[in-house]
Amino acid sequence: MDKYEVTEAVQYAGVADPDLDLFESQYPVPDGVTYNSYVILDEKTAVMDTVDARGTDQWLARVEKVLGGRKADYLVVSHMEPDHGANIARFAKLHPEAVIVGNAKTFPMIRQFFDMDMEGRSLVVKEGDTLPLGRHTLQFFMAPMVHWPEVMVTYEQTEKILFSADGFGTFGTDSGLEEQWSEEAARYYLNIVGKYGIQVQALLKKAAGLDIRMICPLHGPVLKENLGFYLEKYNKWSSYEAEAHGVMIACASIHGNTARAAEELAQMLKDRGETQVEVVDLTRTDVSYAVRKAFYYDRMAAASATYDGGLFPAMESFLHHLRAKNYQKRTVGLVENGSWAPLAAKTMRTMFEGMKQIKVAEPAVTIRSALDAGSREAMGQLADQLAQGE
Ligand SMILES: Cc1cc2nc3c(=O)[nH]c(=O)nc-3n(C[C@H](O)[C@H](O)[C@H](O)COP(=O)(O)O)c2cc1C
Ligand SMILES: [Fe+2]
Ligand SMILES: [Fe+2]
Repeated sequence: MDKYEVTEAVQYAGVADPDLDLFESQYPVPDGVTYNSYVILDEKTAVMDTVDARGTDQWLARVEKVLGGRKADYLVVSHMEPDHGANIARFAKLHPEAVIVGNAKTFPMIRQFFDMDMEGRSLVVKEGDTLPLGRHTLQFFMAPMVHWPEVMVTYEQTEKILFSADGFGTFGTDSGLEEQWSEEAARYYLNIVGKYGIQVQALLKKAAGLDIRMICPLHGPVLKENLGFYLEKYNKWSSYEAEAHGVMIACASIHGNTARAAEELAQMLKDRGETQVEVVDLTRTDVSYAVRKAFYYDRMAAASATYDGGLFPAMESFLHHLRAKNYQKRTVGLVENGSWAPLAAKTMRTMFEGMKQIKVAEPAVTIRSALDAGSREAMGQLADQLAQGE
């Protein structure tokens, strides 16, 4: 089978971008990313989304090759974010006969991005509408705010393929294995879509009513087997449930004393029977990985040096990201360090109070420069509470 063949009639036309430094100008992608696009060949032909501007030439060549001299009848636009929509105007110009398929929110956005005349060549679809291509029939389902307002997914009824937009997407150009997918798809989902759990749950309910045999996302591998595994992960992530009974210790230390306390707390938790304890040095870990870890475990301890009357920036940034991504339903412990007026715990407490269903384990531990007998004892009490918590 051709490596580009999804099924006989559905061909992959996406491009890999292995050299990208930061996806969306903020997420490190050590193994790059793919911008997926698909072409369906039937009595009518349909191109499913375009790609990022970084892949224009390769994509156009690939689409032409797959079309093999045929016209493109439709361009389906699932999502207008430029990692997918960048080539809409270019494609429309090259294929003047192609009809652009989108929903009521897609077309105003196309006009925002491009100076483009779509007179007589746009098809506005709404929830449940179908578009016959011949043997294949596309059916459209709206997915508003997963994670942009105009997002929709397309279900192909004959081969039972869900074109899932960014949903079920992942970083990496070769993240086929389930474990690998779980890590990077989680980092992708939680950071990019995580805020919109309610909307994702709504989409999953729609998907539950469909017989899906294959998922074609806009990033990462096509999912052909064991779809229950992926659906279950999405259900967990979008309902903000933890994946593991364990504790993340997130620490932000300037000179190392808070970091040493974090390691001691980890040992205290292990001594109390915790088997999954992970210390994450926020100063040396990109925040997107730290956010993924925070959602993974059911409990967290946040340990930070005080800095100019507030938090050391790595911790401040981390908590800001957690709040933005709707971090919730967790127990957290607080450890602060300060040499003259420790304020980190107060600041962290206020930030956690802005999140839903966060239980703060007591006591908050105050270290004055370095752990001593008193702060060590307090940390033992915190370990007791965290180890009992859920
Ligand atoms: C630029 C800067 C600002 C600081 N601001 C405060 C502060 O406002 N209050 C305080 O108690 N300590 C402050 N500190 C001191 C550290 O919080 C303190 O030395 C702490 O023990 C550092 O822990 P660490 O060894 O984990 O870096 C500041 C340190 C630096 C470098
Ligand atoms: Fe997107
Ligand atoms: Fe995307």
